[in-house]
Amino acid sequence: MALDRSRFFPLALSRGFFIELSGAQLGEQTDLFDGALKAAKGSLKGLVFFDSNNRHRGRLSKKFSGAWPRKTHKYLGHRGFWQVSPVVHVLGIETSCDETGVALIRAQPGSGSSQTGAGASGATGEILAQALHSQVALHAAYGGVVPELASRDHIQKLAGLVERVMSEAGVDWAALDAIAFTEGPGLAGALLVGASLAQGLAAAVNKPVIGVHHLEGHLLSPLLDPAAGDIKFPFLALLVSGGHTQIMRVDGLGRYALLGETIDDAAGEAFDKSAQLLGLGYPGGPEIARWSTSGRADRFDLPRPLMRRPTLDFSFAGLKTAVLTHVQKLRSSLALDDQARADMAAAVQAAIVDVLTGKCRKAMRDTEIHQLVVAGGVGANQALRQAFAEISRQDQCRVLFAPPHLCTDNGVMIAWAAALRVLGGQPPSKASGFSVRPRWPLAELPLV
Ligand code: KG4
Ligand code: ZN
Repeated sequence: MALDRSRFFPLALSRGFFIELSGAQLGEQTDLFDGALKAAKGSLKGLVFFDSNNRHRGRLSKKFSGAWPRKTHKYLGHRGFWQVSPVVHVLGIETSCDETGVALIRAQPGSGSSQTGAGASGATGEILAQALHSQVALHAAYGGVVPELASRDHIQKLAGLVERVMSEAGVDWAALDAIAFTEGPGLAGALLVGASLAQGLAAAVNKPVIGVHHLEGHLLSPLLDPAAGDIKFPFLALLVSGGHTQIMRVDGLGRYALLGETIDDAAGEAFDKSAQLLGLGYPGGPEIARWSTSGRADRFDLPRPLMRRPTLDFSFAGLKTAVLTHVQKLRSSLALDDQARADMAAAVQAAIVDVLTGKCRKAMRDTEIHQLVVAGGVGANQALRQAFAEISRQDQCRVLFAPPHLCTDNGVMIAWAAALRVLGGQPPSKASGFSVRPRWPLAELPLV
């Protein structure tokens, strides 16, 4: 035990634990600490702080890196509490739209530098179990998601999927660190199903909850790949889902600067609407991709809106109108056969891929940031993946995708985003009532 002269800074070393009982303002009082840490080096198993904060951590990491085993100085975020065993188990629940997704993730901070990898912490995650129920068949007859049917189906499926995931993972409820759910944006009724089950479970098993932003879930999902270890902040992110098309600069967890976005339809919507006009089924993205394989993209000339403009914004409404015009002409001349459908599908896909890759190239040039993460349902598109692979060779940039099954909505991305926030220092909250945020701008997310 050591005290500084003003008794402001008591330290204790006992049974391999080094305990500092000062307030968060470490200030200049670090010499005592420095000496004590050096003396304790080698016999130190863990480091416990009360009332610490991120500034505290930053100062300590800088000053004392190497003074204790790396894995012990990660901040776990339980209200300023540094834990000795920084492994978190998070159950994730996704019900924002038409997929019921549940997953259990085990995550831990990495031992690398604090600027690399997921959440700037080099964190790594392992999927212990996951389950997904797609409502595609339920909505197919309507050509789009019917919100009321979606909510009812989530209610029927969610509890069963949670049970399955917990038993497949073989993890006890008591071992969970947080229960995460998609708080928004999305369909209000569908979100409420996930939020209420998460809050109810959390209250029942006395665990904290964490509400996750759906788009942050998409955006961070590629970082679950072990190959993401060399991705550094800042990086660019292309978020392409059914409702969003955005290019962002990511400076840290919760630090998202919007560089460009669609001024009308999203890329996923352009796929879906074009498929609908061609009578190809729902959801349109995978259908267009499938038909494209037997089509010739150059048979129809489709516009690439805003392509040559200096902006990083997108526009896909004109593409849809052009498809409609072609389809009407083909119909009136009785020429809308399967080959025409396939050729049109290939032309639509090529136009969307051109616009998305063109704008991302421009963003990388403008910002001089040469790392890009692609996330969201459209990220599952093989032609887009191939085009980016080619660009990464030509421009010598790094382009990272989530595996295709993690591009579309799933529970893994929700558990992972929550785990990164918890590891980054955001305390999960106690289960209490619940709210959802059907509209929730990414810019309003708390920083970590
Ligand atoms: O991210 P997501 O699963 O849900 C939203 O949050 O919106 O994205 C769904 C969108 C749909 O528009 C779907 O057509 C599109 O992603 N999509 C694809 C592919 N798979 C899904 N678009 C192109 N090619 C695909 N393989
Ligand atoms: Zn989504």
